[in-house]
Amino acid sequence: IFQVAAASGHTVVLVDQSDEILKKSTKGIEESLKRVTKKKFADKPCAEFIKKTLKNLTTSTDAASVVHSTDLVIEAIVENLEVKNKLFKTLDKFAPEHTIFASNTSSLQITKMANATTRQDRFGGLHFFNPVPMMKLVEVIKTPMTSQKTFESLVDFSKAVGKSPVSCKDTPGFIVNRLLVPYMMEAVRLFERGDASKEDIDVAMKLGAGYPMGPFELLDYVGLDTSKYIIDGWHSLEPNNPLFAPSPLLNKLVEEKKLGKKTGEGFYKYK
Ligand code: 3HC
Repeated sequence: IFQVAAASGHTVVLVDQSDEILKKSTKGIEESLKRVTKKKFADKPCAEFIKKTLKNLTTSTDAASVVHSTDLVIEAIVENLEVKNKLFKTLDKFAPEHTIFASNTSSLQITKMANATTRQDRFGGLHFFNPVPMMKLVEVIKTPMTSQKTFESLVDFSKAVGKSPVSCKDTPGFIVNRLLVPYMMEAVRLFERGDASKEDIDVAMKLGAGYPMGPFELLDYVGLDTSKYIIDGWHSLEPNNPLFAPSPLLNKLVEEKKLGKKTGEGFYKYK
């Protein structure tokens, strides 16, 4: 998100918990920018674009101290309502009156976060997709309290960073995850029952349905912990909905810290 915002000319401050994480993130962005620009500037050097983009970026470990000069805050931290609300409550004290707050949550209710602040009308959802530089979609979420002006600003921002916005009510999973997560969980259950191997399920969905990744590849890509947070949250909201039932296999992998690509192992092993 940070990358596409900077690449489209916005001045951005990336805030995270430690300098070490920020260093790793900045390095990841540099690598990703190289991949993006290789295509964009096939016939000329892309160093200029990368330099210009990186000039729009700064980093900080202190959100409260940088938020005073911000028009838009996009939160993309751990999928835990309590932790998100604590952050929003703090930022609400330091951010200017006009600043819009947005959450990139995958599955939590935006209304519950907005209610932790005093700016419910200047609060909405901006949900991006992995990998953000490649995926063209942004879901813009309007709660019953989000003002039309805020909603339009979020739509305009999405377009300004080169994305195609769609809108959805503040319902669990919005559009994409409400369809995608139950599908991926059904794939895990199919595998758990022993009906097919995970490799064959992945091949089947790629070749039979035209998906760019199979469900197990995608689960590993998104992160098994993220998928578990989502399904556990929905299961607690609707315990009788079989689509939201937790999976013993997914739980076991997360317990073993096999979280997917980012830890080197999930359903598959990565070198
Ligand atoms: N940054 C920049 N460029 C990237 C990139 C990144 N992080 N990842 C991939 N690319 C580029 C590559 O450089 C390559 O560019 P090229 O065509 O110019 O060579 C292009 O994308 C294709 O990459 P690859 O050849 O390595 O591999 P694929 O053809 O398989 O594409 C993919 C990779 C774009 C990730 C594709 O597999 C895909 O679309 N997968 C599905 C992703 C998806 O479903 N995302 C949604 C997940 S759900 C979610 O995010 C919601 C959350 O709330 C959980």
